[in-house]
Amino acid sequence: MSLRNAVELSHYCVKMVVRPDDTVIDATCGNGHDTLFLARLVPEGRVLAFDISPLAINNTAARLEEHGVSERVELFQEDFRNLRDYVKSPVAAIMFNLGYLPGASRETATKAEHSRQAVERAVKLVRPGGVVTVVCYRGHQGGPEETSEIFAVTAGLSQKEFKVLKIDFLNQVNNPPLLVAVYRLEGDRA
Ligand SMILES: C[S@@+](CC[C@H](N)C(=O)[O-])C[C@H]1O[C@@H](n2cnc3c(N)ncnc32)[C@H](O)[C@@H]1O
Repeated sequence: MSLRNAVELSHYCVKMVVRPDDTVIDATCGNGHDTLFLARLVPEGRVLAFDISPLAINNTAARLEEHGVSERVELFQEDFRNLRDYVKSPVAAIMFNLGYLPGASRETATKAEHSRQAVERAVKLVRPGGVVTVVCYRGHQGGPEETSEIFAVTAGLSQKEFKVLKIDFLNQVNNPPLLVAVYRLEGDRA
């Protein structure tokens, strides 16, 4: 696996902890690339995929159909702040890929306050040993403020319960996306 950008890094972090029969979540399914990655990772498990945009749900459904993995994915046109309403027991991984739907209006972009709330809730929904990944974009309007909110909410998590990584590219121009990965610790390992 190459690690060319924050999205590929998020896949790597998820791949390290997920087992084939796990339940995993894509909080922002967009055009379905991350959902397809998750579906391939859990051939005996389930993927719950969310997006607030109907276009995103349609695009993801088409991609999953094309690749023959629709049967293990449930799609919900839903705000990611409401994920907890759909999670009955802790999941292995939750992926957030913030920003706007590529190819659509920038009005579809995630909002700082909503993303902060959603991530704050999501870290409570992963099992010990699981991970929440957040790809943050700083290049569009509202992106820097949203990224700051994600830093604030994740940096404040107890180090007895979570390990929080920020992975950034220091020598790239044009504000490349960065990754925040929140690992829920197992037992009393800190
Ligand atoms: C960068 S795109 C996601 C890309 C996607 N993961 C992929 O692989 O194609 C961000 C997505 O977040 C969605 N979004 C914006 N606000 C949201 C919210 N409150 N709840 C859920 N999704 C939201 C947008 O509609 C958009 O599709």
